[in-house]
Amino acid sequence: MRKKIVAGNWKMNLCFEEAEELVEELIDLLEDVELKSEVIICPPFPYLEMASDYAQEGFFKIGAQNISPFEAGAYTGEVSASMLDSMEVSHCIIGHSERRKYFNEDDKMLTAKVNQALEHNIIPIFCVGESLPERESEKHFEVVRRQVRHGLFHLDTDEFAKVILAYEPVWAIGTGITATPAQAAEMHAYIRSLISERYGEEVSKATMILYGGSCTSKNAAELFAQPGVDGGLVGGASLKAEEFVEICKLA
Ligand code: PGA
Repeated sequence: MRKKIVAGNWKMNLCFEEAEELVEELIDLLEDVELKSEVIICPPFPYLEMASDYAQEGFFKIGAQNISPFEAGAYTGEVSASMLDSMEVSHCIIGHSERRKYFNEDDKMLTAKVNQALEHNIIPIFCVGESLPERESEKHFEVVRRQVRHGLFHLDTDEFAKVILAYEPVWAIGTGITATPAQAAEMHAYIRSLISERYGEEVSKATMILYGGSCTSKNAAELFAQPGVDGGLVGGASLKAEEFVEICKLA
């Protein structure tokens, strides 16, 4: 069985002291539990070095929330994949709906980001998911199919095998409305069928697909118990150490 993953997406929250406190609290709590899951925390860029120092203790891995589509050079404000790699950052969220929406990240840019990440040893956590109007008009499968195909299906099998996917229905992110376990299971199965068509059943079975969107300690057990749900990408609830560790325990 695949080992589940719980990743915390801190988004643009916390000042430095609060971030360090959260990391210390997480370590205190994680020290006392025997987890079956792998834990990844994704703090904002300026806190990555601090977090990656603490990650040496082995309780969690570090992910970035964004990555440049470019290799290096005159791209003011950007952070490259090789910089992240040099700071022991092992994962990066790519294609989050907030970046697609507020920063106009389109399929072409996301493809370039995925390529940069893989070239520099960073595992993409590639997010897909439909908006509420898209689900209401029953376009959710079509939308997710497009996002998965355009963002990832240019990769060869070995490259694709490194990628983690996250299904995050946009209407569930930060809203307190979680997808039902059945809705999550249905979409995860659909994504897996797309992967199977493109890369074969073995790769499809081995691919990690996380669920994200208002995941909490109250609903995580049921969501993670669904076939094909390999853990969670957790936003708001990852900012509270106890709550986040509870979720990790349920995975
Ligand atoms: P949420 O965010 O858990 O606060 O809904 C999830 C995400 O955006 O990754």
